[in-house]
Amino acid sequence: MICEYNMSIQTDRFFVFLRLYTLSILLSTRLAAYRTCKCYLHEFTSGRGPPFYSMTTDDFSFVERADAPAKNCGTEGEPTEFFTTELGRSVLGQAEIVLCSPEFTPALAKQVDLVFTSPPFPLNRKKRYGNKQGSEYIDWLTSFAPLFRQILKPHGSIVLELGNAWEPGRPVMSTLALKALLSFLQTGEFLLCQQLVWYNPARLPSPAQWVNVERIRLKDAYTHLWWMALTDRPHADNRQVLTEYSGSMKKLLERKSYNTGKRPSEHNIGRKSFLTDNSGAIPSNLITLANTQSSSDYLNYCRTRNLQPHPARMPIALAEFFIKFLTKPGGLVLDPFAGSNTTGAAAEKLERRWLSIEPNESYLEGSLGRFDEAKISANFQH
Ligand SMILES: C[S@@+](CC[C@H](N)C(=O)[O-])C[C@H]1O[C@@H](n2cnc3c(N)ncnc32)[C@H](O)[C@@H]1O
Repeated sequence: MICEYNMSIQTDRFFVFLRLYTLSILLSTRLAAYRTCKCYLHEFTSGRGPPFYSMTTDDFSFVERADAPAKNCGTEGEPTEFFTTELGRSVLGQAEIVLCSPEFTPALAKQVDLVFTSPPFPLNRKKRYGNKQGSEYIDWLTSFAPLFRQILKPHGSIVLELGNAWEPGRPVMSTLALKALLSFLQTGEFLLCQQLVWYNPARLPSPAQWVNVERIRLKDAYTHLWWMALTDRPHADNRQVLTEYSGSMKKLLERKSYNTGKRPSEHNIGRKSFLTDNSGAIPSNLITLANTQSSSDYLNYCRTRNLQPHPARMPIALAEFFIKFLTKPGGLVLDPFAGSNTTGAAAEKLERRWLSIEPNESYLEGSLGRFDEAKISANFQH
């Protein structure tokens, strides 16, 4: 009994010691972060533009990154305008540098209707454009949250496309993208409006080892689209993205009668339910689009100029869907990780203004193939 009592005192002491130790480490980290934030805010408030909307110590990683020299930008980190159209600007540089530059930060504050983007995925093997891995990826993606918060209109939206990732050499999925998303949401204090899924039926079977060779997993054929906003009711109108009615719905509208009564789901279907012709069906949160663009103008443009086509471009219909759903004509759409500038091209087509950022010059050159040559004023040398 005494022995047990002594043990419990010792255990209690150990935990008190552990708590004090953890507290002191926490305090010193917070103090360091606070000092850096304060310096950074001072720089921002003294001439370089407005302070970030809600800069907390958790934004520390962003502060470090924003001040870090650009590795991949055009001229020593200075954003370079690559080409413009009447509606848009394509900028060569890293998003963290461009969006923090004195040219862009004040001009973009509360101006953006939609951030639509597919950030570099947290791949386990590095892609041509150099993806980050592990906690470095989480910190990097999270670092954009305060920045996007600052540039978003109060009723604007953010849509991040994030694919699935796998643990290296194992038939086990990585939770990294989910962790990065949660960290991004929390840091930006964004609300999750809806999760959508883009299903690509034309996707090649992967991961090949587990799907094709060992046959122990199923084909990975979708990506997540996380729609976030600052408010419960960002601008959105599903009437702008109606899809064609199914054959049976068309017949029903002709017949003008419906099988009434209670359904197993407990929904009570009235005589007139579903008989109004709304010119199309409301789409679900599962967007099915095959990514088969082998004969597109973009690929032809790249081929004829000997440019490497972007390895991870999305179908233009995906960008069009979100732009129509979440913005009005004339609105401003930002793609900070533009790649082949699918988003900019979709915005241009739908008469929205756009700003696209990409650090890889060759992807930018290829992206010109998505635009009408007559509408482009280019700043670069072939
Ligand atoms: C998944 S791809 C985007 C593909 C694009 N949605 C399309 O349809 O072509 C991500 C892009 O982010 C770019 N990228 C990587 N780091 C970046 C950074 N720090 N700032 C801006 N873009 C970056 C990569 O070069 C790559 O082209």
